[in-house]
Amino acid sequence: MDIFESVVVAFWVMLPAYVPNNVAVLAGGGKPIDGGRTWGGRRILGDGKTWRGTLFGTLVGAVLALVLSASAGEVGATLDVSLPTFPPAAVVALPLGAMLGDIGASFLKRRTGRQRGAAFPGLDQLDFAVGALLLTFLGAFDWAMDTFTLPVLAVVLVLTPILHVTTNVAAYWLGLKNEPW
Ligand code: CTP
Ligand code: MG
Repeated sequence: MDIFESVVVAFWVMLPAYVPNNVAVLAGGGKPIDGGRTWGGRRILGDGKTWRGTLFGTLVGAVLALVLSASAGEVGATLDVSLPTFPPAAVVALPLGAMLGDIGASFLKRRTGRQRGAAFPGLDQLDFAVGALLLTFLGAFDWAMDTFTLPVLAVVLVLTPILHVTTNVAAYWLGLKNEPW
């Protein structure tokens, strides 16, 4: 696999994990997951993690994985790259893992005294990718081993923070997000 192929495959397999966070920004609101509860005087997760955002984010990511699966042959032929399809476990694990990684990061942010919206450099940019990878390796081990080769994983680790920073700055400028991270 050459670099171009690794970049295309990395972007392709991670799309169902990248989109949920952005959908959550658009769909978020309503009841927070922690129901307003606190732990040690601080919110467990905070108002930034809602049922609605998590549900819609996961759902749209899963539908996207199905659409990508259905078009893998055609798009792959156009780009002259062999693109993977997504088994059912990966269809769920990629978006759900991304949302859970982001939720886990909020849990850590609250425990370290950071208010909702505070930046946690490093964690903010990779939490969802790490969550998606972990849950996918748990739920679809063989597929994940075949798909996330070392070059693809390396591209994911470099590409994810770049995409995260770009989309969040764009969402901030568009007035969709309160902070540019
Ligand atoms: N969002 C949501 N549910 C999620 C994730 C995000 O509803 N599971 C929505 C919320 O409206 C949130 C916005 O998307 O405010 C931006 O997401 P994020 O930056 O992850 O949340 P923050 O508000 O910055 O909160 P935190 O400090 O906990 O990350
Ligand atoms: Mg934030």
